[in-house]
Amino acid sequence: QKRIAVMTSGGDSPGMSAAVRAVVRQTLASGCVSYAIYEGYQGLVDGGDMIKEMQWEDVRGWISEGGTLIGTARCKAFMERPGRLTAANNMIERGIDALVICGGDGSLTGADKFRAEWPSLLDELVSSGKRTEEGVKPYRHLNIVGLVGSIDNDLSSTDATIGCYSSLQRICQAIDYIDSTAFSHQRAFVVEVMGRHCGWLALMAGVSCGADFVFCPENPPSENWESEMCSIVRKHRELGKRKTIVIVAEGAHDRNLNHISPTMVKDLLTNKVGLDTRVTTLGHVQRGGPPCAYDRMLATLQGVEAVKAVLDSTPETPSPVICIVENKIVRKDLMEAIKLTKEVAANIEKKDFAAAMKGRDAEFEE
Ligand code: F6P
Repeated sequence: QKRIAVMTSGGDSPGMSAAVRAVVRQTLASGCVSYAIYEGYQGLVDGGDMIKEMQWEDVRGWISEGGTLIGTARCKAFMERPGRLTAANNMIERGIDALVICGGDGSLTGADKFRAEWPSLLDELVSSGKRTEEGVKPYRHLNIVGLVGSIDNDLSSTDATIGCYSSLQRICQAIDYIDSTAFSHQRAFVVEVMGRHCGWLALMAGVSCGADFVFCPENPPSENWESEMCSIVRKHRELGKRKTIVIVAEGAHDRNLNHISPTMVKDLLTNKVGLDTRVTTLGHVQRGGPPCAYDRMLATLQGVEAVKAVLDSTPETPSPVICIVENKIVRKDLMEAIKLTKEVAANIEKKDFAAAMKGRDAEFEE
């Protein structure tokens, strides 16, 4: 009887609670024992009450809850080997031999590192006298399965991460609200959206809201972007638009990687185009609140698949990450997905923006 634990890690996203619910219930439905680890990797290091056995009713109603009801954290202790050793000991204490982790690329990289190190952690537990050879024998094969929970939609190999469509919806709602006041006063608004180094939220919000201009990290504007943006906005005004919306991804920069801030854009619209301009930073409103239907569905289907992947796993199987590609739930090699994601960042650093866009989803291809 497998003992499967689920954890959420890194920044929260809408749909994480739904993913936990699906993993818990599929674990129980498969005749296994279910655990939830509270507060991300910190809970694994702290052990005790932070690792809780879960029953079917414990996750009742979680499908529509925002954030993660088992908490999340960015844990420093787990980044060091002693922290991981304590975590391994706590897992063996509870008989846990499989971990399903819902988080972003950083959290999932940590998970795979833990798996790679696992045999040596067990050896150290034995050599330090904390565990016996016989005691660790049943735990020699650790299963790790990743679920991608992030509003940023920045993991290569999957079309959507759990939470990104809820966040996009929230941004669109906010811009709809801004639109009406912008229209009334004939104002311009510069809206900063999250996404870290990824421009997916900015780009899709621009498409969905009919923005005048969008700044994305993967596809920086031309060298003379200041005059280009101003002339586009001016043209839209000449065509009769009463409002202007410019969306700036928080990671936006020019082709020399100089940060483009909302204030810089505001100053241009004010001084060069003569528009009464305001800046709105949406902040964590984009990450909170209930998941949209798509994220509930994605989290549920992927949570179920994660448990199936645990049950199919062998010591030879590389850790999988559960993805969605062309509307199908699929398993991909976790480390390969992370490698591709890191390549995008490296290509941006190298100013090879064409390669960076290729490394993202199809939406970015021109
Ligand atoms: O990765 C999710 C995200 O919301 C990013 O879009 C943003 O850059 C970051 O997390 C904000 O992190 P924090 O909540 O720690 O301020």
